[in-house]
Amino acid sequence: MTKKKVFITRKILSDGIELLVSQGFQVDINPEDRPLSYDELNKIAGDYDALITMLSDKIDEQFLEKNSHLKVISNYAVGFNNIDIKTASRLNIAIGNTPDVLTEATAEIALGLMIAATRNFKKASKSAEGGRWKNWDPQGHLGHALKGKTLGVIGLGRIGLRLAEMCSHAFKMKIVYTARSEKSNSISAQKVEMNDLLKTSDFISIHVPLTNETRKLIGVNEFKLMKQNAVLINTARGEIIDQEALINALSNNTIFAAGLDVTDPEPLPLSNDLFKLENAIILPHIGSATFEARREMSLMCARNIIAGLTGKELESPIV
Ligand code: NAP
Ligand code: GLV
Ligand code: GLV
Repeated sequence: MTKKKVFITRKILSDGIELLVSQGFQVDINPEDRPLSYDELNKIAGDYDALITMLSDKIDEQFLEKNSHLKVISNYAVGFNNIDIKTASRLNIAIGNTPDVLTEATAEIALGLMIAATRNFKKASKSAEGGRWKNWDPQGHLGHALKGKTLGVIGLGRIGLRLAEMCSHAFKMKIVYTARSEKSNSISAQKVEMNDLLKTSDFISIHVPLTNETRKLIGVNEFKLMKQNAVLINTARGEIIDQEALINALSNNTIFAAGLDVTDPEPLPLSNDLFKLENAIILPHIGSATFEARREMSLMCARNIIAGLTGKELESPIV
């Protein structure tokens, strides 16, 4: 019997690859240290039964129509805004993602960004490296404390809730959140209207998926409602913030600082004004980048593919 063929669009940690090979699948991997172009992947996919894709691969209607022979695509991410789910469902292509296993890693990055942004890590570190650290300055680099402050979580899902727990337990922060449905939780997090969250939160962290509803959810009007000491964190998707409005809010000190693991576009061009702002800390989308999380993501993708290619329901199906 000929082996079923799986293509992985970037080199991932080997755990999942070994699992696929041990189960008798042929696995090929993009040898380049870069994403394939849309056209390159479109062409290659023709030879395969299943794909493991990255969040940077655009799997749109045209791609799926052309590759409707695919049985399963597993995204090496929990977010799946890069995939046209409606078309996949219509064409009976199973789509999987990697929830839960990256929740801890991503919540840790959000918390890290909260501390880095409110305690001026970028400006302070640049000052030390740039030879401007002349003495111990009693009024230098002052930031706002976390303890006892209010955290507003936009989207209290898996990652939002984990960050809320960390902040509630470690810093005794009060938690308010928005979501479409009430979420039961053990930390007395309170569901509020978006405007109330924006007006009362000292830290605001975005955890909604990118959808037509959440695109540019935070724009000029939302920044106007925020406190002057507010710190905005985004580990979800760059497009959820109107980035021009953010640049204005940071330059005019409408808010105190921002910590971003995601931007629009990615990578963010070096000429972007966000890089010039000392109160904007930018990370290159490393939310899930722990050995632990990436290993589990690799295995979960492999298990999704194995299920899809053996006619079973995926472990974490989107459709
Ligand atoms: P999740 O468990 O599905 O949580 C998303 C939450 O957003 C849900 O609680 C949902 O609740 C809420 N929501 C959805 N649409 C909303 C809307 N229009 N308004 C308000 N709330 C809304 O997802 P997750 O695992 O926490 O992941 C969240 C996102 O983080 C992913 O989609 C991904 O884009 C991003 N992410 C980034 C990284 C990184 O490396 N930086 C890593 C992992 C994930 P309701 O259904 O009740 O509205
Ligand atoms: C990363 O951004 C993910 O969605 O997993
Ligand atoms: C600071 O370094 C202190 O000792 O207070």
